[in-house]
Amino acid sequence: MEKTLLIIKPDGVKQNIIGEIVSRFEKKGLRIVAIKKVWLTKAQAKSFYIVHKEKPFYEPLSDFMSEGPVVPVVIEGAGVIAKVREIMGATNPANAAAGTIRKDFAESVERNIVHGSDSPESAAYEIPFFFSAAEIL
Ligand code: RTP
Ligand code: MG
Repeated sequence: MEKTLLIIKPDGVKQNIIGEIVSRFEKKGLRIVAIKKVWLTKAQAKSFYIVHKEKPFYEPLSDFMSEGPVVPVVIEGAGVIAKVREIMGATNPANAAAGTIRKDFAESVERNIVHGSDSPESAAYEIPFFFSAAEIL
């Protein structure tokens, strides 16, 4: 069964909407197979987002992702990678569709509440970044 990594970013944790976010995926029939709360160091955040190392937003993104605790979540279901990104909404909340998480809660393109794997290859890197096989149930 397909799996993806979602992260509730520091702004989402601060807004106290972990349960609200997780329930949106459960209501769509997707299953939560792993969840925890961790506070990344800046070095860990840079390593997680290494794919963006040449982008102008790499440093501020790494600062943001390490400014407070985050909640990584592994979600499972048929077509889950695309479904999760649809429920998240566009990267920039100004462009996000009504009813998406980013439209409802995000303040800017930088501080946009959630991360979701964008491909099977990304998921294969991102899930083991946070979870061992024994923690995915
Ligand atoms: P994510 O990886 O977090 O799920 O977001 P995404 O695929 O929708 O967007 P991506 O292009 O992968 O960018 C990763 C994160 O970097 C920040 N960002 N800032 N200032 C900017 O123009 C800009 N662009 C991206 C956002 O936090 C974005 O989610
Ligand atoms: Mg991305």
